[in-house]
Amino acid sequence: MSFESSRAKLIKPSPAITISTAAKAMKAEGLPVIDLSIGEPDFGTPDNVIEAAYAAMKRGETRYTAPDGTPALKDAVIEKFRRENGLKFERANISCGNGAKQILFNALMATIEPGDEVICPAPYWISYTDMTLLVGGTPKIVECAQEDEFKLTPAALEAAITNKTRWLFLNSPSNPSGVTYTREELAALGTVLARHPRVLIMSDEIYEQIYYADTPFCSFGIACPELADRTVIANGVAKAYAMTGWRIGYAAAPVALARVMSKIQSQSTSNPCSISQAAAIEALTGPQDFVDTARATYRERRDLIVTGLRAIDGVEVVEPSGAFYAYPSLAAFIGRRGPDGTVMADDSDLTRYILDAAMVAGVQGAAFGLSPHIRLSYAASTDDLKTALERLKDALGALK
Ligand SMILES: Cc1ncc(COP(=O)(O)O)c(C=O)c1O
Repeated sequence: MSFESSRAKLIKPSPAITISTAAKAMKAEGLPVIDLSIGEPDFGTPDNVIEAAYAAMKRGETRYTAPDGTPALKDAVIEKFRRENGLKFERANISCGNGAKQILFNALMATIEPGDEVICPAPYWISYTDMTLLVGGTPKIVECAQEDEFKLTPAALEAAITNKTRWLFLNSPSNPSGVTYTREELAALGTVLARHPRVLIMSDEIYEQIYYADTPFCSFGIACPELADRTVIANGVAKAYAMTGWRIGYAAAPVALARVMSKIQSQSTSNPCSISQAAAIEALTGPQDFVDTARATYRERRDLIVTGLRAIDGVEVVEPSGAFYAYPSLAAFIGRRGPDGTVMADDSDLTRYILDAAMVAGVQGAAFGLSPHIRLSYAASTDDLKTALERLKDALGALK
């Protein structure tokens, strides 16, 4: 008997999890694997946040809350948008969920009719396409060239929009490429979108705080205020405050959409953990020095990994200006043979070879819709990154 519905069959297990499971199995055998496949900060959650969670438990904040977050958390989110983005929202705009992931899922679930298209500029975060499929939509993948720093151009956006387009997903800073859009680039996309009133915009800004470009980070809401009535700005505490396990994400959305998102959440998970909500309030409104320290550390590692990758013959990499991923091209190695004669046909072969030969785990570009690349997370110690880069150089150098 099959337990898999036709809907469930539309998606596959996450390739990132498959590779990190293989890496963990090798580690368990005692092999010195360096795992750069994971998308989470390697820091602990700041103490003030942990204390706030404990205090909330002691106060008895251990009960159901409103499905889409307590008024206090919504106020903290409103304050964050005001302070850091210069955006003004009311409580009715705000929706809080079990991670940004649930927010994105709710938004799609709320709006997608069968066959509606969701534009996903590639390389994209894996969940965008799979979530779209799960809710009955059709991902419309638009490949963005390395020469364009993997960014969607206005012309490519215009060409991708049809009368079925429902959403455009934007992600700046980007997972997996680490690139960021300037205010002008977002505004130019906004000019195209203004001509297509049925298209909603999901601006996933979860890596906002991990940002190193010279120009200040610009939220889509600031670049394109005229599209506010169809823009969702998604964010969360996971990456900025090293709180991946606490599961708090949030969004600012048009009031009518926020209402439907809340309705959907009320019949799935209901409220996110009450204790995590209290912790998120402290993260968003308490001292912000953790964010600055983490950013400076990631930036040093970014410099290290970019320099190290560029020192490897054949590797090309666009310098990431945000997040904690590098997305080098492995085009020069396609078709080469490993020491045992195996031909490297694509980036999945290369990623597997790098895991076996260099004992460095990354994720193949195919998983993000743009090959031939490998995503390497630099949320890892400097020592591990240095060793990984040396091993990578040797392993790639051994391909003939
Ligand atoms: C681009 C992007 N958006 C959203 C998320 C989801 O974050 P959360 O842990 O808040 O669900 C992630 C997590 O990896 C991500 O990389």
